[in-house]
Amino acid sequence: MEVLDNNFQEGGFTIPSEGLYPFQWKWDSGFIAIGLSYYNIERAKLEINTLLDAQWGNGFIPHIVFHNENDSYFPGADFHKSELHPLASKKYRSTGMTQPPVTGFILLEMYRIAKDKTDMLNFIKANIDKVYNNHDYFYTHRDPFNEGLMYIYHNWESGTDNSPVWDDIWETMDSPKYNFVRKDTTHVDASQRPSNREYDHYLYIVDIAKEHHYDDAKIAELSPFLVQDPLFNAMLIKSNEALIELYGLIGGNESKISTLKSWQEKSCKAINSKLFDQELGAYVHFDLRNNKPIRHITSSSFSPLFANIPDQDRAGILVKTMMDRFGGEDKYLCASFDPTNERFNPKKYWRGPVWINMNWILYRGLKNYGLKEVAERIKKDTVDLIERFGFYEYFDCRKDDGDLERTGYGGNNFSWSAALFIDLMNSD
Ligand code: SER
Repeated sequence: MEVLDNNFQEGGFTIPSEGLYPFQWKWDSGFIAIGLSYYNIERAKLEINTLLDAQWGNGFIPHIVFHNENDSYFPGADFHKSELHPLASKKYRSTGMTQPPVTGFILLEMYRIAKDKTDMLNFIKANIDKVYNNHDYFYTHRDPFNEGLMYIYHNWESGTDNSPVWDDIWETMDSPKYNFVRKDTTHVDASQRPSNREYDHYLYIVDIAKEHHYDDAKIAELSPFLVQDPLFNAMLIKSNEALIELYGLIGGNESKISTLKSWQEKSCKAINSKLFDQELGAYVHFDLRNNKPIRHITSSSFSPLFANIPDQDRAGILVKTMMDRFGGEDKYLCASFDPTNERFNPKKYWRGPVWINMNWILYRGLKNYGLKEVAERIKKDTVDLIERFGFYEYFDCRKDDGDLERTGYGGNNFSWSAALFIDLMNSD
C-alpha cells in the first residue's frame, strides 16, 4: 500500500516506478487498479477513469499517457507526437501505440473485489462502452485478414519489450543509427536494459508510423514489425469474456453481447489453430510481416490458460512444457524466456527474468484448469521473491548461483509488483 500510495500522482494516476517511468502506462494502470481495489476503491476507479479519459476518438487507448513534461524518460511526447493522428486525444499527449488490452478483465476484477457491488456496477456501467469501443477498434483496425487475431506493430505494444522473440525481426530491418540520449540507463544498470541498437529499431518503427500519421491501414501495409502475439490476444480474449459477463450483469445491450460472442468464438478458434505449436507444446508468436511462426517459448506462451483458451488436454501439455523447461527445483517460476535457449539472459528485462504480472496471470490461469500444484508453486515463488528482495520490477529466476550481489532488477518500489502481491495475499 505504501508503494502504491507513494507512486500516486496529482493528475489522478499511479506511476509504475519513480524516475524510470514517470507517466501513466496502460497495462500497469490495470494491474494497479486491482491492488487499489482492496483498500482504496475510489482511487482504483480514478486510475481507470484517468486512463479512459485519454482514449482517442477511434476507441484506441495509448500505451503511455504523458501527463506532464517530465524529461527523465526517453522517448517522450515530443518524439511520439500522437497529435499527428486526426482522432488522437486533444486533452493528453500520448504514444501512438497501445499495450495488452487488460482493461476489460480489470473491470471484472474490480467488481469481484469491491464490497459495494451496486456502486461498482454503476461505475462499470458508466465506463464499459469505452472498453467495448476499444475492442471494436482492435477488430476493425488490427486484423487485416479478418482472422480474429490482432497484430501489434511495435515490440512496446507487446509489453515484453526486448524479448529474444524479436531478434529475428531486427535482423530483417535496416534501421538507421539514431543519435539519442538514453534516460532509462541513468536509473538502472545497462546490463538490465535493452541495447542501444535495439533502441534504434524501436525508434525507427515509430518513425515509420509517424510518417503515416499513425494510420492503421498504412502501418499494416508498411511496418517492418507486424506480429500476432499470444499474450496480447489472450488478454483481449479474456477481456471479451469479462465484458460479456459484465454486460450480462448490467442488463440490456443484447447486440453488444452478441458481437462480443462472435469476436470471442473467432479469436479462440484462431489462436488455437494458428498460434499453437504442437511440436513445442506451447503457443508462439507469428510474424505476419514475414509470414512465419517465431518458434520460441516465452512466459507469454502459457498466458492463454488465463483466458480459458486451451482445452484440458492442451492445458496439460502447456504445463508439461513449462515444468520441463522453466520449472526445475533450482529455479523460480516463471522465467520470461525459455531458460534452455541460448538467447536466455537472467538479468536482462524480458530476456529471462521473472515478472510479477506474468506470474499472476499464470497463477490465475492454472487455477482455471484445477492445476493446483503448479499454481501454488507459482504463488509461493512470487511471494518468496518479493519477501526476499522487495517490490522490484523483475527478478532473476535462478535460486542460487552463488552470486550474492544478486537482487531484484529494474525499478524498485514497482507498482504492479505491489498491487498484485496484495491480490495474491488475498486469494486462496
Ligand atoms: N517499458 C518501456 C520502457 O522501458 C516502455 O513501455 O521504456
